[in-house]
Amino acid sequence: MRIFTTKEEIKTFLTHIKKENKTIGFVPTMGALHDGHLSLIKKAKKKNDIVVVSIFVNPTQFNNQEDLIKYPKTLDNDTKLLKSTNCDVLFFPSVEEIYENNVKSEKFNFDGLEHQMEGKFREGHFDGVGTIVKTFFEIVTPNKAYFGEKDFQQLQIIKKMVEKNQLPVKIKGCPIFREEDGLAMSSRNIRLSKKHREAAPFIYKTLKKANKKFGTENAINVTEWVENQFKKHPLLDLEYFTIADEKSLETIKNKESNKKYRAFIAVFAGEIRLIDNIRLNKN
Ligand code: PAJ
Repeated sequence: MRIFTTKEEIKTFLTHIKKENKTIGFVPTMGALHDGHLSLIKKAKKKNDIVVVSIFVNPTQFNNQEDLIKYPKTLDNDTKLLKSTNCDVLFFPSVEEIYENNVKSEKFNFDGLEHQMEGKFREGHFDGVGTIVKTFFEIVTPNKAYFGEKDFQQLQIIKKMVEKNQLPVKIKGCPIFREEDGLAMSSRNIRLSKKHREAAPFIYKTLKKANKKFGTENAINVTEWVENQFKKHPLLDLEYFTIADEKSLETIKNKESNKKYRAFIAVFAGEIRLIDNIRLNKN
């Protein structure tokens, strides 16, 4: 596996790859890799000649400084895992290399997708994500880029950015990888205390029950039911639960037959914020 830390070096390397007419698959990450990340890399390996993974804890997408400082960094283990998937290139730049002396986001208009859910609770988050992903696309020039449905709003926003700017890259969504007890894999899970880690599978259990209820009840009733489940829970604090249209990400009032819906949730387990979502069946 080749490891690059500067834009110039990786660009030069990838220019040669392109000249050979090889395709580039790209998986951007913030490191602390787990099987969810690896599933994206394995998919990229199957469909492209060369796979580039970036590890970069992007400061502009954090609205909480403590979360940024405490974000897990496990580079040695990450490198081992990447080699085990036969990843071809790791791009691991410093903040200065990417932002030079201007650690700021570009302002984006994602046609309103940015104002829903995470956008309401994490000020500036999606401008930060848009800025870094666009920058990486310019450096890596991938044919295809892979994103997890774990961050479904992020996936839709990246698709929107590509569509609006007509960027020459195909965006591929990948299913959520879970621990055996149902907790969605996340780099932040290793920061959970023992009791919060034990409590956290309640999130997915509740999402699955909400999915069942959505077959027979309306969105408002299901939402109230979920809110009540968390009010009763001694360790988990609900930030939001919402049932939204998959495309517009707007909270729905009534079910329509030709639309796809998802339930989205954000929960604090102690000081760790966890997000998850589930595709809903309408019956
Ligand atoms: P990070 O949280 O490291 O996630 C990198 C990619 O892995 C994202 O596309 C995310 O949705 C996916 N992923 C994370 N957990 C997953 C799981 N359990 N199952 C499937 N996919 C999962 O998301 C980011 O980093 C950043 O915002 C980034 C896009 C790299 C921009 O900085």
